[in-house]
Amino acid sequence: MEHEVGAIEVHGNEADGELIEVTLLHRSAFDFEPDEPADFLLCDMAFRPLEVASMLARYARTRTARFLIANFKLPMKRKAEIVARIREVLEAGGFRGLRVRQLYHDRDEVTVFARA
Ligand SMILES: C[S@@+](CC[C@H](N)C(=O)[O-])C[C@H]1O[C@@H](n2cnc3c(N)ncnc32)[C@H](O)[C@@H]1O
Repeated sequence: MEHEVGAIEVHGNEADGELIEVTLLHRSAFDFEPDEPADFLLCDMAFRPLEVASMLARYARTRTARFLIANFKLPMKRKAEIVARIREVLEAGGFRGLRVRQLYHDRDEVTVFARA
C-alpha cells in the first residue's frame, strides 16, 4: 500500500530547518488560494485573530480542508469575547465540532481543532 504525504507551507518570513519536505510559498497566507483540497489545515499566524478566523473559514466554505488545527493569538483584553467570536466566524464558514484549548502557562493564545 502506498501513502502520499504532501505539505505546502505559506509563510511570511524565510523558513529555516524544515523537518519534512514541504513546498514553501513565501507570501501572505491571505493571498494563498489552494489548487486542490487538503486533509489538514494548520495555522500558527501572529496576526489579528478575527481576520485569521475569516481567512480559515473560507477553507470550510470552499471544502478545501477537512480538518483544522489553528493557534489564535489573543489580545490583552476581552480574551473570552474574542474566542467566542472566533467560534462564530469558524462555524459560520462551516467548521463543526470545535474544540478550544488554552495552555495553563500561556493565556495569550488558544488552539482550535475543528472539522469541515
Ligand atoms: C508564532 S510564529 C509561527 C511560527 C511557525 N509555527 C513556524 O514554526 O514557523 C508566527 C508566524 O506568523 C507569520 N505570519 C504573520 N502574518 C502572516 C501572514 N499574513 N501570512 C503568512 N505568515 C504570517 C510570521 O511570519 C511568523 O513567522
